[in-house]
Amino acid sequence: MPATRLRDRPAWQALAGHHAQIERRHLRELFAEDPGRGERLCAEAAGLYLDYSKNRITDETLDLLVRLARESEVEQRRDMMFAGKPINTSEHRSVLHIALRMPKGASLTVDGVDVVAQVHDVLDRMADFAHRIRSGEWKGHTGRPIRNIVNVGIGGSDLGPVMAYEALRHYSARDMTFRFVSNVDSTDLVEATRDLSAEETLFIVSSKTFGTLETLTNAHSARDWVVGQLGSEEAVARHFVAVSTNAERVREFGIDTANMFGFWDWVGGRYSMDSAIGLSTMIAIGPERFADMLAGFHAMDEHFRTAPLSENLPVLMGLLAVWYGNFFGAQSIGVMPYEQYLKRFPAYLQQLTMESNGKRVTVDGVPVGYDTGPVYWGEPGTNGQHSFYQLIHQGTRLIPVDLIGFGKTLNPLGDHHDILSSNVFAQAQALAFGRTEEEVRAEGTPPDVVPHRVMPGNRPTNVLLAEKLTPRILGALVALYEHSVFTQGTIWGIDSFDQWGVELGKQLAVRIIPELTGETEPRLTHDSSTNALIRHYRRLKQT
Ligand code: F6P
Repeated sequence: MPATRLRDRPAWQALAGHHAQIERRHLRELFAEDPGRGERLCAEAAGLYLDYSKNRITDETLDLLVRLARESEVEQRRDMMFAGKPINTSEHRSVLHIALRMPKGASLTVDGVDVVAQVHDVLDRMADFAHRIRSGEWKGHTGRPIRNIVNVGIGGSDLGPVMAYEALRHYSARDMTFRFVSNVDSTDLVEATRDLSAEETLFIVSSKTFGTLETLTNAHSARDWVVGQLGSEEAVARHFVAVSTNAERVREFGIDTANMFGFWDWVGGRYSMDSAIGLSTMIAIGPERFADMLAGFHAMDEHFRTAPLSENLPVLMGLLAVWYGNFFGAQSIGVMPYEQYLKRFPAYLQQLTMESNGKRVTVDGVPVGYDTGPVYWGEPGTNGQHSFYQLIHQGTRLIPVDLIGFGKTLNPLGDHHDILSSNVFAQAQALAFGRTEEEVRAEGTPPDVVPHRVMPGNRPTNVLLAEKLTPRILGALVALYEHSVFTQGTIWGIDSFDQWGVELGKQLAVRIIPELTGETEPRLTHDSSTNALIRHYRRLKQT
């Protein structure tokens, strides 16, 4: 932690004063004063072009934000992460997802162990396994090749795999079926398997801890389904593999650890899609394309590690999030991909951003005294425009938005892609510049309707553009947001790598389960609301 608390840092105080001026400025003026702004306030790295000119900032704002990053020791803490120092202080762990995508031959030694060599050992085993599955060499219990992959996991052991599969579906083995089961709601597993034959199905049980109730419940039911269909416990060995850091528990479940792909406690669940947790992704797109994805992650890592702060994409995006959250009081950030394959990207980002930065105390345990992680949310492209964009355009809340577009579609069809892309630019334009009362009047609008049609504008956007969605670009895009989260968390002085807040609910649920399942009326000792709800539930269950 820097010696000075965030609010006392000179740059923070300067930003507070500066905000009072900027708040009154409109993007229309800022663009009018500086005709080259749109070409100037942009940056490019790892195949991603970021236009951040339509933000409520001036050069002075940027200077102050960069000063804030320096005073908050973003560079030092970034270097500590890259050196494997235990920056996840509440769990006493290194934070080394960046090692997952270091190229073969690179080395990073932590506690005397070269973690990059470990990573590549696992990647090689994954590649061998993926080849055997894809080629049909790996046979199920009855001798049939595997054609269906079901990933069973939750949180980071689900959202990354499902997002990456959807994002890279274009590149996937189309003769195979991929399903993802996360919810302990039985419907999830039942629907995911109802049209599959166990003979051709492989379950990948993905759980860092191998102790997550939802995943183990689903995995046990999946095992019953396989054994029920194939008539033998021996089938488990050919139809289940595990991805975990916990060999002991994998063995207890009955999966041969020869069929386990490991990772390490220095990989956070929400930072794990490029570890063995990505096994389903690798089977879907093949090891070579998986390597391309890792190269994209690494390219963005290198940019984050080496580029000056003022040209550093993740730093800029992180600083802008702080600017709106802490100085304008923005509560949320929208992320809208104009690419159907990225439909699960906002859901993926929700865990990455909110489980990381939804914290109320600093790393030294002191209540922060300022807002931390904003709510991230979003939907693909034009669908959102016909639903909630109204609020972003004319509502009373300020919602900064990231719009993600591509030069090429993976499925060319008439002029669909140009129509889609026109919306990226039009939305950013409308949000920034709006429509004045004079303009609305000049269109002959009836006076009583004029106020309803005025578009205030001055609503900030980042526009991210890439040539087309490839494994490499997906890696770069995810790493961009990972490091933006890091930048924000470092400024707020919080531990972005723990998640203690999810524990209490889990413990209470474990206590409540027997009260719901027991035959006899339980003696309830909760608060009166929980007691009444449990009684009512039991009545509903019995009718
Ligand atoms: O409940 C939160 C969490 O611990 C996440 O951080 C994690 O991604 C998820 O549960 C799943 O955990 P595991 O991979 O250990 O099953």
